[in-house]
Amino acid sequence: METGDVLLIAALVLLPAAILWAVFLARTGRMRRSPAAMLGIPAALRPGQPDDVLEGSRLERLLAAGFVATLATALFIPLYWLPERQRQEAFTERFSHEAVERGELIYNVAPRLEEDADPLEFKELEHAVALGMGCANCHGGDGGGGVANPPGRDPVTGKVVAWVAPPLNTVFQRWDEEVVRFTIERGRPGTPMPTWGQEYGGPMTTQMVDDVIAYIRSLQVTQRDASGNIAGENYELDEGASGQEIFEARCAVCHGPDGEGKENTRPVAIPVGNDPEDFPRGPVYYPGLALWRGDIEHLQPNMHLYTIRNGRRFAFMPPFAEAPSQGIPVPPHPLTDEQIEAVLEYERTL
Ligand code: HEC
Ligand code: HEC
Repeated sequence: METGDVLLIAALVLLPAAILWAVFLARTGRMRRSPAAMLGIPAALRPGQPDDVLEGSRLERLLAAGFVATLATALFIPLYWLPERQRQEAFTERFSHEAVERGELIYNVAPRLEEDADPLEFKELEHAVALGMGCANCHGGDGGGGVANPPGRDPVTGKVVAWVAPPLNTVFQRWDEEVVRFTIERGRPGTPMPTWGQEYGGPMTTQMVDDVIAYIRSLQVTQRDASGNIAGENYELDEGASGQEIFEARCAVCHGPDGEGKENTRPVAIPVGNDPEDFPRGPVYYPGLALWRGDIEHLQPNMHLYTIRNGRRFAFMPPFAEAPSQGIPVPPHPLTDEQIEAVLEYERTL
C-alpha cells in the first residue's frame, strides 16, 4: 500500500473519531456541572426527564436520526456490493498478469551480473537473476522450440546428440495441464529435460511452476507460422487433409518430419542466440521414442489404431480420438475417425 493511501485512510477514520470523542468529552463535561452530579448522586438515582419532555421533540429527533441511519446502511450495502464483482475480476486479472510476468522471468535465462556491478543495477535485475531458470536455452525464445543446450546424450550409446526440445507455444494442443505440470515437475529421465519441482529435487517451488505454466499458456499460437515451421503446429486441418498433412501438422513435432525419430541427420533448429557451431549436426533425437522407423510392421494394425486413438499417457504419447477409451481425457484438438485412419495409412508407408 502506498503511503498516500495510508494517510488518506488514517484521515478518513481517525479524524471523525477524534471529532466525535471531543464532542463526547465536551458534553459529559457539561453534565458534570449539574447540581446532582456535584452532589455525587449516581446517574441512575437522579430523577429522569418527565414524560412530556421525553415524548416531545426529543423523541422525534431520535426517531428521525434512527431513520436516517437505517437508510444510510440500506444504501451503503448495495452500493458497496454492486462493484464487488468488477473489483474481484480486476484482482484476478492483476494476479494472472503478474503470474505471467514472473513466468516470463522464470522461462528466460537469468542475466549475468558482474562481480563489481553497482547496487542499482543489481536491484533492477534482482528478480530476473533470482527467478531465471533458462527454459529458453533449450525450448527457444517465446517457446518456439529448439534443441537441448547443453546437448543431450544417447542413453544407450552415450554419444552426444542434438535432442529436440519441443516448442512450448503449442504444447497445450498436445497436452492438458496435468501432463505439462507432471513433465515440468519431474522432468523426463533419460532425456535432457531436467527435473524442476522442489518435491523431486529440482529448484522450482509450486508457485514458480504455476507461474511458468501461466506464461506458457500466454504464448500459445494456433496456426502454422509464416515460414510453415512446425513451431506453429496447425491443428485446424482442412476437410480433406491427407495422411501426410495430418502427420506433419500433428505428429512430426515428436516423431520427426519423416517419422525418423532418432535417426535424422539433417541440421536442426538452433536456439536463438546460440552459436550453430556448438551444436552437433546429427543424429537428431526427437522427443519420445519414435519406434517405427523401418519396422512399423511390428505394431499390429489394431494396436497401431489403439495407440493413435488413446495415446500412452504417461509414456508421453498423446491421445487423438474424439472419444478415447474410458478414463483417458479427450484431447484439446482431436482428429476425426477418418483423419486417424488417413494418418495411420500414411504412417504404415514410412
Ligand atoms: C537442457 C534443456 C532443457 C531445459 C533447460 C528445459 N527443457 Fe523442457 N524439454 C527438453 C527436452 C529435450 C524435452 C523433450 C523430452 C523428450 O524427449 O521427451 C523437453 C520437454 C518439455 C515439455 C514437454 C513437451 C511435450 O510436448 O511433450 C515441457 C512442458 C517442458 N519441457 C517444459 C520446460 C520448462 C517449463 C522448462 C524451464 C523451467 C524447461 N522445459 C527447461 C529440454 C529442456
Ligand atoms: C508429444 C509428442 C508426441 C506426439 C505429438 C505424437 N506422438 Fe506418437 N509417440 C510419442 C511417444 C513418446 C511414443 C512412445 C511411447 C512409448 O514409449 O510407448 C509414441 C509412440 C507412438 C506410436 C507407437 C510406436 C510403437 O512402435 O509402439 C505410434 C503408432 C504413434 N506414436 C503415432 C503417432 C501419431 C499418428 C501421431 C500424430 C497424430 C503422434 N504419434 C503424435 C510421442 C508423440
